[in-house]
Amino acid sequence: MSEKLITIKNLNKRYNIGTDREVVAVDNINLEIDKGDIYGIMGLSGAGKSTLIRLLNRLEEPTSGEIFVRHQIVPKKNKKNKENENITEETFENKNILEFKPAQLRQYRKKTGMIFQHFNLLNSRDVAGNVAFPLEISGWKKKDIAKRVDELLEIVGLLDKKNSYPEQLSGGQKQRVAIARALANNPQILLSDEATSALDPRTTNSILELLKDINKKFGITIILITHQMEVIRKVCNKATIMSEGKIIEEGETKEIFLNPKSDLAKEFVANIPHDEFRSDEELLKRSKNTETLALKLKLTEDQVNRAFVTEIIKKFDVEINILGGFIDKVSNIIVGNLLIEIMTNKEIGEEILAWLKENKVELEVL
Ligand SMILES: Nc1ncnc2c1ncn2[C@@H]1O[C@H](COP(=O)(O)OP(=O)(O)OP(=O)(O)O)[C@@H](O)[C@H]1O
Ligand SMILES: [Mg+2]
Repeated sequence: MSEKLITIKNLNKRYNIGTDREVVAVDNINLEIDKGDIYGIMGLSGAGKSTLIRLLNRLEEPTSGEIFVRHQIVPKKNKKNKENENITEETFENKNILEFKPAQLRQYRKKTGMIFQHFNLLNSRDVAGNVAFPLEISGWKKKDIAKRVDELLEIVGLLDKKNSYPEQLSGGQKQRVAIARALANNPQILLSDEATSALDPRTTNSILELLKDINKKFGITIILITHQMEVIRKVCNKATIMSEGKIIEEGETKEIFLNPKSDLAKEFVANIPHDEFRSDEELLKRSKNTETLALKLKLTEDQVNRAFVTEIIKKFDVEINILGGFIDKVSNIIVGNLLIEIMTNKEIGEEILAWLKENKVELEVL
């Protein structure tokens, strides 16, 4: 049975620009997120995604509306007790976070981790120092901090970089540090605003795998903003698509992919395989076991608008399965490559390769 973690009711956020103009960043949103969800938020730039997520941890105050969150009650007499001791289901209740008193808000924020596109690490501190930071603020003892930091670095696979500085790390490693830091206080919610947007496709995959792991192992609910439908396909069990502050599509990821209702969702889904919800590695393994021609097409910016797959199907009368890869139509840049498998015999396969070559498509036979 799924359990509600967050219930958003009639949430609005308007910004006044100057004296006469108003932007409706979040427009009457109603939303429910279950405990354990990896919930995706997708939409064009300016849709209101970041505003919504900032309202969730009260970095922004809404103009109106309510946000109920399953919140841990800390009994006063146990205040000094070590964290997460004797926690039962009764220690939680649904509370409107907008009515929190300062102490409740501090507690709530502690239990709501956040990661960003640009990592936001402290450059003057090494990896361990960055991860220790939230623990220091929470008043942990030095000895306990050292132990917890090791534990966290182990989770994100960076124990060997403990004493490195952010500038010595790759983007993916920096994001791992940020994730370790966000997990320090055992959050129940992890908010991620475009956490993989600055990373290459392979690193993106490894960070997504880590987020999936964390969700599974620790039951942390993840709310994840992305501009890549591919990211939603890979990790989210549910998703919503926002446009101009409103939710225009919402539901199970699979349902959105199989049966997109809004034009925007249809557009986002257009280049994604409809029947596959597996990782690229898995897909590749599978394709290797069949008598098919598996190709990785590396389309340039000018080529993405040509429907190569459709053309091949028509011209050579073959069946093509799109295994993965994603062309981001919105920004017209290629995110990853297009992985296809063509059911055909050797002869026609060679003709197809020759035709692709003629059309100057860079490719790899897998
Ligand atoms: N502090 C602010 N003051 C005024 N307007 C704002 C402010 N923050 C956001 N907005 C406006 O609210 C709308 C939603 O912005 P938001 O940053 O939430 O969009 P987004 O979906 O996260 O976009 P992106 O994909 O570019 O990050 C935009 O029109 C933006 O200009
Ligand atoms: Mg944003």
